[in-house]
Amino acid sequence: MNPHSVPNAILSYPGKPVNGGSNPRFYDFDDGVPRLVKWHPSPHGGKACYNELVAARLGQLIGAPILRGVVVYVPDNVIPAEHKAFGAKAGIHFAVTRMFGENFAPTRHYADIENSSELPAAAVLLAWLAVGDQETHNQYLQREMRDEHGRVKETKRFLLVDMGHMFGGGGWVASNVEAAHATHCLPGHMVDKLKADLLRPALDLLYTVSDADVSACFQDRPEEWGITDAEAASGAKRAIAARDNIEAIIRGGNPSAFA
Ligand SMILES: Nc1ncnc2c1ncn2[C@@H]1O[C@H](COP(=O)(O)OP(=O)(O)OP(=O)(O)O)[C@@H](O)[C@H]1O
Ligand SMILES: [Mg+2]
Repeated sequence: MNPHSVPNAILSYPGKPVNGGSNPRFYDFDDGVPRLVKWHPSPHGGKACYNELVAARLGQLIGAPILRGVVVYVPDNVIPAEHKAFGAKAGIHFAVTRMFGENFAPTRHYADIENSSELPAAAVLLAWLAVGDQETHNQYLQREMRDEHGRVKETKRFLLVDMGHMFGGGGWVASNVEAAHATHCLPGHMVDKLKADLLRPALDLLYTVSDADVSACFQDRPEEWGITDAEAASGAKRAIAARDNIEAIIRGGNPSAFA
């Protein structure tokens, strides 16, 4: 991928996010957008960044509360020594717009969020793509966003983060990804919020997503990440099969969601 065709990092921010086993870090970019950079290759596996990219795209198709990530370039001269110390290297990586807020704490935050109508779509996305590692973290409470005039406004929104664990993690290959999962256990705190009548519209929306749209989400990726055409095709096949079986996947893993 031509580094000039994607946002380039121009400055690193001090500090690090709460959690972040793969050492993501905040950078400013030449399009004026501060982002969280997730490095490729990731300690979470060679597909972790690809998983992030694909899952965020698929999430847009079903109205799930997740930011769309992008491919970025981070040049060597902006990476500080303390990032290099854990292996950060110049290259093509994944990044997502920096949110301001805090990790989502179910007991404190559910009552306050403004986008609870998007929770069913969040659950459907996690179950559809078998996104793991969501039980106790990897959800975020966004406290600020831009209004229609571009001004910062206060908000309290539930957002999914960290799709590196799509399809069970970043270590999949074509041969083991294709068979769709039969069930998926959602985070317990989310299941408590779901009921059949709330899930129905989110399920129906997923059924309207075409094979072509699913496949397109797997197609565009940087060649530096080494994802083969066969892997992209197998991933898409898995997502299409799981789409067609989504109700059984959720019902099997979370019977009370349909109570
Ligand atoms: N867009 C964002 N803006 C601000 N903070 C974020 C954003 N996305 C994630 N975070 C914060 O960064 C932390 C680490 O991000 P993320 O979970 O994606 O990294 P990871 O290394 O894959 O994590 P894990 O340790 O769960 O594998 C999150 O727990 C969250 O607190
Ligand atoms: Mg995480």
